[in-house]
Amino acid sequence: MSRNTESFSFGAGLGDSDRSLLPRQDSLTPISTKQKCLNAQCAAEYSVNEVLAGCRTCGELLDVVYQWPTSFPTNYWQLIEHRALTKGARAGAGAFPASDSALDFSGVWRFRDLLPFYGDPRHIVTIGEGRTNLQRADALAGKIGLSTNNGGHLYLQYEGFNPSGSFKDNGMAAAFTHAKMVNAGRVACASTGNTSAALAVYGALTGMKCYVFIGDGKIAYGKLSQALEYGATTLQIAGDFDACLARVREIAENRPEVGIYLMNSVNPFRLEGQKTIMFRVLEGLDWQIPDWIVVPGGNLGNCSAFGKAFIELKALGIIDRVPRLAVIQAQGSRTLDRMVNELGVTWQAATCGSNVCCRGCTRKAPEAQLCFSGIYDTQKVKDEYLRMNQNHERAKTVATAIEINRPVNLPKALRALHAMNGVVRSVSDEEIVEHKALVGRLGFGCEPASGASVAGARLLIQEGVIRPDERVACILTGHVLKDPDVTVGYHTGMQMKANAVDLSSCTPTGRVSNPPIKVEDEIESILHAMGVGR
Ligand code: F0G
Repeated sequence: MSRNTESFSFGAGLGDSDRSLLPRQDSLTPISTKQKCLNAQCAAEYSVNEVLAGCRTCGELLDVVYQWPTSFPTNYWQLIEHRALTKGARAGAGAFPASDSALDFSGVWRFRDLLPFYGDPRHIVTIGEGRTNLQRADALAGKIGLSTNNGGHLYLQYEGFNPSGSFKDNGMAAAFTHAKMVNAGRVACASTGNTSAALAVYGALTGMKCYVFIGDGKIAYGKLSQALEYGATTLQIAGDFDACLARVREIAENRPEVGIYLMNSVNPFRLEGQKTIMFRVLEGLDWQIPDWIVVPGGNLGNCSAFGKAFIELKALGIIDRVPRLAVIQAQGSRTLDRMVNELGVTWQAATCGSNVCCRGCTRKAPEAQLCFSGIYDTQKVKDEYLRMNQNHERAKTVATAIEINRPVNLPKALRALHAMNGVVRSVSDEEIVEHKALVGRLGFGCEPASGASVAGARLLIQEGVIRPDERVACILTGHVLKDPDVTVGYHTGMQMKANAVDLSSCTPTGRVSNPPIKVEDEIESILHAMGVGR
């Protein structure tokens, strides 16, 4: 057991008389909160009330950093268990300002003490996001090579249960909260689909004007339909995701008169919300630490948020070791894989004496923010992007969610890999759709990008990097209904031309395909097709 168990007991909810045992709010409140540039050679700091897509001095990414109280209560999780008992009907999700029970009901905000940038809780936006769960998947574990008789287990963190059907709602709840703090009127994002769907839902509920920039023909219909249905102004740009992001950033940063608040994951407040996916994985395991977290990588916001979550939990003394991280990309958009495994780009934690930061670091809560500063070989990264430009390299994968060649969170992903002793791999489109179908066949279900995490876990088991007796948590990032074209295309062998999604780069072997059976309108033929006729 790796959780710090001192003065802690699990079990049923607390009665009124026991509530006095819960941690007091003043023991959880940070002494200060700011935005800070992760570049150790710059380390510029900004107020949390500023709206920035990057450091004004050096252009690098910003973190939200907290100066925590010296000792965080070791029975913190008891408070979380207590909050999780809130009933949905009483919570009034979507109301503004949110009631305490609405905050407790949210799978993001019941952990609010671990993302306390909001200052005044009346700014918090919630629509009941993050009530997702961790499922043990024994049949699937066996199929991918884990030995369940030997302590090996596969867990699926099913983020498709979020209100908009993907993990993005975790981040949107936090970013919309910051947007409320700074009185934003117009919000925008570039998206491969899920960010735009989540943005549109939160925009509809908060009444903020929403703009989404999507690559022409680069979005699954389930996701496009959400942006349209929830009333976001949807701009189909003649370009890919990387082009869309460059444009929306340009407008947010260089056209202040338009007043756009940027909702992409360069926004550090988004990532604060996405940390809670890891808190829920731990919660689902009764606060035991899994051996591996496996997550698909696109713009690399999610894996970055996971790294930050574990650095902070460790510094706060809530856990005493961190799991390893595996980031899985599609072979057609494997920039991080190439940077790490071929070009040797790594993160160097500048301020950590042992230079293994979170893994070996003994730094405690008040100085946790120091763990976020570091450097990496920026010249190598620039040269690689230049080479990609010169060769006109564009991302291409059936998993359109992760069809991204210039992941903006690359530095933070390098930091997460460093802190969590991580690895990066990429898998083919065939492996992606095959594992997506396998997840579905065994009763769970996910969209193509999420299938990459299970395909990646199998690859790492085959390579001997993940041992068969280890406990592996794969993140299923989006719902099975998000991309019906790929699913129907896989099962029927048809290329779904109605949508511009291109399946030509993937030739499913169809090991678990389940095509519909065409049959005459005649009873004996139908029984025969059902496999029950004479
Ligand atoms: N899985 C799904 C279903 C996604 O939608 C995304 C990203 C990822 C994985 C990758 O996550 O970017 O944090 O590494 N979708 C973004 C979007 C880019 O616009 O919806 P990441």
